[in-house]
Amino acid sequence: MKVTKAVFPVAGLGTRFLPATKASPKEMLPVVDKPLIQYAVEEAVAAGITDMIFVTGRSKRAIEDHFDKAYELETELERRGKTEMLAFVRSLLPSHIKCIYIRQAEALGLGHAVLCAQPVVGNEPFAVLLADDLLDGQGHQPVMRQMVDVYDYYKCSVLGVQQVPLADTKSYGIVDSRPVADDLEAVRRIVEKPQPEQAPSTLAVVGRYVLTPRIFHHLAHIGKGAGGEIQLTDGIAALLAEEQVLAYRYQGKRYDCGSKLGYLDATLALALKHPEVGADFARLLQTYTAEHAAAQPNES
Ligand code: UTP
Repeated sequence: MKVTKAVFPVAGLGTRFLPATKASPKEMLPVVDKPLIQYAVEEAVAAGITDMIFVTGRSKRAIEDHFDKAYELETELERRGKTEMLAFVRSLLPSHIKCIYIRQAEALGLGHAVLCAQPVVGNEPFAVLLADDLLDGQGHQPVMRQMVDVYDYYKCSVLGVQQVPLADTKSYGIVDSRPVADDLEAVRRIVEKPQPEQAPSTLAVVGRYVLTPRIFHHLAHIGKGAGGEIQLTDGIAALLAEEQVLAYRYQGKRYDCGSKLGYLDATLALALKHPEVGADFARLLQTYTAEHAAAQPNES
């Protein structure tokens, strides 16, 4: 069965970005000129996914509005003869893409958010993309495309993973695995946010998953885990007892836009590559760097 549906859990509170996220979701933070959620949706479209399922919470109207037709804006752009902008606004999503919104009434955890999508996903494999992880394929295929290709070959759940410094294991789901092919590992065990001393490895799960629908059964039964939340990691740990789960070391670079520094990193990297502002931005950055260096106390 083909992967045609993607779940975007966007119901988190985004506390690390307060007050920016008080009235607007974290996933609407722009990186240069596009909100995070749009990068993730474009990645899903490139993977051949057609049904975008957003699990939303409070203050998430902006996401629905973003992907909706903007009649007033379009009329105004037309009136002002801004044809390029008009075409841009109209082409945000290809016309064959469907957007579906589900409400997660309470932020009970990522696993719970994914479970909320079950009535729409049904009995099919599906992708999960956390939009606050911005993944740049850097000249390779977009990362979800790479993962769907792995799923199509092995027909089992696939987790996007990357190596992290040992000190950072406490921020991720960490896998214990054995190699099966280039860039591919069979997961033996998965642990949510272990302290470095307890971490089975430094291979961390990032915000990209392809999951079999059996995950819903486990998410419905696991109960609360770390932080009192229903954790997707715990659901995957239960799934592992029944099915093969693969960890895929994707080609590309990840920016953790859920943290301020990661978000700034993404902004710098993507601004430098931007066709419209890239060259000017590079000059601007040089000026700032020179000014900053000049302002530092002389060490000699
Ligand atoms: P995070 O752990 O980053 O939490 O969630 P958060 O609330 O978004 O941000 P901080 O830590 O308070 O700053 C990981 C992903 O899971 C979603 C979030 O929207 C994010 O994409 N999520 C989390 C939900 O959809 N529902 C939840 O109950 C929890």
